[in-house]
Amino acid sequence: MRSISLLAFFFALCESAAIDSFRYTGVGASGSYQMITRADPGVWPNCNIPQDQKCGTTLSSVNAPLAPFDDEQSVVFRGPMNIYRLAVYQPQTGGAWTSVSYWDPNVSPQNLVFLNNMGGGASGTWSICQGASQSYSSGNYSTTTSKPNAEPFKTFIPPGKEVNIMTSTQCSTNQPCAGFSRGTAYHGWGGSKMFAIQYNMPQSTDSNNNIPAIWALNAQVLRSAQYGCNCRGMGGSGGCGELDLVEVIISQDLSQAYSEIYSMKGATGTGADYFARPYTTSRTLLVTFDAGTDTITLQHVASFDWSNSISAPQMSSYATGKVDRSVPFGTSYFTTSSSPTSNIPTSKSPTSNVPTSTVPTKSPTSSIPTSKSSTANTMSTTNVQQTSSTDVVPTMLQETGKNTSSTGSSATLSSSLFLIMFLAYLMM
Ligand SMILES: *[C@@H]1O[C@H](CO)[C@@H](O)[C@H](O)[C@H]1NC(C)=O
Ligand SMILES: *[C@@H]1O[C@H](CO)[C@@H](O)[C@H](O)[C@H]1NC(C)=O
Repeated sequence: MRSISLLAFFFALCESAAIDSFRYTGVGASGSYQMITRADPGVWPNCNIPQDQKCGTTLSSVNAPLAPFDDEQSVVFRGPMNIYRLAVYQPQTGGAWTSVSYWDPNVSPQNLVFLNNMGGGASGTWSICQGASQSYSSGNYSTTTSKPNAEPFKTFIPPGKEVNIMTSTQCSTNQPCAGFSRGTAYHGWGGSKMFAIQYNMPQSTDSNNNIPAIWALNAQVLRSAQYGCNCRGMGGSGGCGELDLVEVIISQDLSQAYSEIYSMKGATGTGADYFARPYTTSRTLLVTFDAGTDTITLQHVASFDWSNSISAPQMSSYATGKVDRSVPFGTSYFTTSSSPTSNIPTSKSPTSNVPTSTVPTKSPTSSIPTSKSSTANTMSTTNVQQTSSTDVVPTMLQETGKNTSSTGSSATLSSSLFLIMFLAYLMM
């Protein structure tokens, strides 16, 4: 019996299937992560300051449905991609959810700011210890502007370029943000929320940057440094949360996109299942973070009513209705480390991404070289902590999008399958 069910489980895992919808159940964690509380700029030309000033942390405990994804979230988009419409809905008393943020190319963003990680030019900051903060994105997502949403936003995000969204409420004394903030710092969307995203992921001839992705991050990560000192953590260090929604991975089939969730609990995801990459036709993805059911549901819907309100029964069907696959996020796939400094980059400072040839000609406050946002850097540093990756679960390596050799990649894939099978075997 055991061997039969194990075999069935194995085939279920290995039979790679295209799916349209996916649900994470039992999302909320009871645990802790290292909140960033200090990130000093340092003094040009060297970041010679103690680690607790370079990336100071305080242990932050969470214990709630969705935690830590009940914390404010931002959504990040990496081209090549077209985004046609975005909306964010949140529950109101009575059970209906209403639109709190909206954008399409014909309107100016409503309670929504487009940001990128190019601080130090027209907006945001750059420092020797912390690299680039968030900045106001230009309409073509390739550079920065001095004011928020200063240019009309195009649908097309060029290959390798990234942009993320926040609400239009700035962090302030009256409305403080959790954790360390700098530069252009805004609130994300907390509690229960649904992101509606109409998008596609066109083919690109730029083979180094043909890996479009959409992911949700704890807003704290963006407010300190997405590619530097942040609370995201990884592996045994846990973290404040990342949810890859649809991510094309460089060493995998580029026509497939995966989802993966990370928190202090560990990681899990779509595994061998995938969302077909929508090259030409646009698709509408609904991502529902529902505290009431402690679930996160990703679904591509055939039609969506973009009006201001979604009824309680309709929302309930998004959060609890049938999906192609569902996975419990209940298992720690790796042990938790309590070392307060274990999630801090050691061998690699954020600024090490700056090409050395261009650094000497730049003043500490000048705009970071645009080549910093090249794919190789951005992707290998989503989790800058990966430099100490020996304790990291294999799926984490795929997720970074690093162009690992294909042998290395299939090895990580099969070892993660092995790990899952082994856990399944233990549970039987
Ligand atoms: C992007 O827009 C800026 C204006 O904000 C312009 O200077 C720049 O040339 C544009 N870049 C591309 C690649 O179109
Ligand atoms: C990834 O690396 C391999 C081997 O170094 C190379 O042949 C391939 O073109 C690279 N792929 C991309 C998309 O950069």
